[in-house]
Amino acid sequence: MTDTITLTIDGVEIKAKKGQKIIEAAEDAGIYIPRLCWLKELTPAGSCRVCTVLINGRPQASCTQPATDGMVVLSETPELKQWRKNVVEMLFVEGNHYCMFCEKSGNCELQAMGYRMGVAAPQYPYLFPKRGVDASHKDFYIDGNRCIRCGRCVRAAKELDGKTVFGFLGRGNQTRLAFNGDTLSATELKAADKAASICPVGCIIKKRVGFAVPVGQRKYDFKPIGSDIEAKRSSAK
Ligand code: SF4
Ligand code: SF4
Ligand code: FES
Repeated sequence: MTDTITLTIDGVEIKAKKGQKIIEAAEDAGIYIPRLCWLKELTPAGSCRVCTVLINGRPQASCTQPATDGMVVLSETPELKQWRKNVVEMLFVEGNHYCMFCEKSGNCELQAMGYRMGVAAPQYPYLFPKRGVDASHKDFYIDGNRCIRCGRCVRAAKELDGKTVFGFLGRGNQTRLAFNGDTLSATELKAADKAASICPVGCIIKKRVGFAVPVGQRKYDFKPIGSDIEAKRSSAK
């Protein structure tokens, strides 16, 4: 019995391993499905919904859905693209994002996603939430204004570092990042922890290395997010 299955994504036939998540199978085949909360090395959370695709006609998060033989997946339809753009715009207005003054600018996945999707001025009103900054830790500071509540740090601390450093408090729009201590310095977070370097945006920031790489010479200043994955497909043609 073979463990290889066949499915189509936007009409392109690809091979996948049985049980592999659709987003990962697509990535292996050089097809980029936008994502913010998913990382290969972490348990999928399915929380941001940016990776939503249509599977046999139904919307599903491609980071949590396993690929099955004969599956028909649509990812780049005009409706899905607009839907994802709406989600990204909502993430911008739910926080306080001033990219011009942010150390993550050019390396930020949310900003890069905004560029890729053509977000200019969000169609939703800015909520201007009141969120705090904690600079008590000797190696990091946390700026809650930029947190998109993707949960990567929460999962990385637990699954990769074996610690309970981060969690969430509150519900819905009021959900905010919390840590296991009165201040960040009271937590077990250490410089070498995976959780410390896994934030897709400028919420968990390392001290003393700010602007070591000038703005304009950073990862997404050169190529759009996802182009490294798409390059695999072009080079295989
Ligand atoms: S976290 Fe990203 S989107 Fe937010 S201000 Fe910084 S660069 Fe901009
Ligand atoms: S701090 Fe960063 S990694 Fe953690 S939930 Fe917020 S955006 Fe995600
Ligand atoms: S990447 Fe799939 S829900 Fe966030």
